[in-house]
Amino acid sequence: MFKIGRNDKCWCGCGKKYKQCHERSDEENLKEYVEKGYPIPDRHLILSPEQIQGIKESAKVSIAIMDALDKFIKEGVSTEAIDRLVYEMTEDAGGICADYKYEDFPKHCCTSINNVVCHGIPSEREILKNGDIVNVDITTILNGYYSDMSRMYMIGQVPDNAKKLVEVTKKCMLSGIDAIKPYRPVSDIGNVINDIADENGYGVVRALCGHGVGLKFHEDPVVNHYRTDRKTMIMVPGMVFTVEPMINEGTWDCKVSSEDGWTVTTADGSLSAQWEHTVLVTESGYEILTL
Ligand code: MF3
Ligand code: CO
Ligand code: CO
Repeated sequence: MFKIGRNDKCWCGCGKKYKQCHERSDEENLKEYVEKGYPIPDRHLILSPEQIQGIKESAKVSIAIMDALDKFIKEGVSTEAIDRLVYEMTEDAGGICADYKYEDFPKHCCTSINNVVCHGIPSEREILKNGDIVNVDITTILNGYYSDMSRMYMIGQVPDNAKKLVEVTKKCMLSGIDAIKPYRPVSDIGNVINDIADENGYGVVRALCGHGVGLKFHEDPVVNHYRTDRKTMIMVPGMVFTVEPMINEGTWDCKVSSEDGWTVTTADGSLSAQWEHTVLVTESGYEILTL
């Protein structure tokens, strides 16, 4: 069980003590899974209404930056200019870019073009050209609260196959999110995503995953986007995590650049797309915080 004190306030925000509110129903809902040996989230992963509010404020900044990028990104723009816009808008909002200096990452966001799966490093030398597809991934810290999101951008006239990959990947993210239900294992998400990828002959990246987020950048649970019958963590109201499938037109296999130590590309050189939202598990399902 997730070790919430019986006399602590209930996670639901009612103001009552836990023992007078959700303690019994939580125990009943989780009992079956505890017996079957599924991991149950630790108490610190169940966020309070105040903490969730903090993440929502952070998400507002992330959304505003992405909306600005929707207008800004076009042919001829460098990924360095994208990075600068992200940095300046984050600063103006009183926030911090979580990416900067995270494990020595040198920039403020990730810009991943065509066969780059993720963690592309913005650069002055990298200019968006007609036909490119690019993912921009940002994480804002506002008053200590993290929100993590990414979108795809299509530059000018994009080939049909690239457009389809971008659209199917968005469907993968949204359908994966739609599988979120409290007291179900997190693997429900990847199972749905992998089905859609299979239908389209695409590969689901296995080396990188969604993650708990909110009070830290990367936290439990691990949210795999591929199919698994392993016993994964049970989703409980108050948990916040990302769903961020990376879908390849070819093989799921990837490699990391030996030059910069960051840039992940598809092993076969095929195109890759990704979308990301930060999502809250609720009593009835979920709420997308970065929408
Ligand atoms: N935003 C990425 C994620 O979705 C993490 C980027 S870490 C960085 O988890 F160091 F590459 F910026
Ligand atoms: Co993320
Ligand atoms: Co991200």
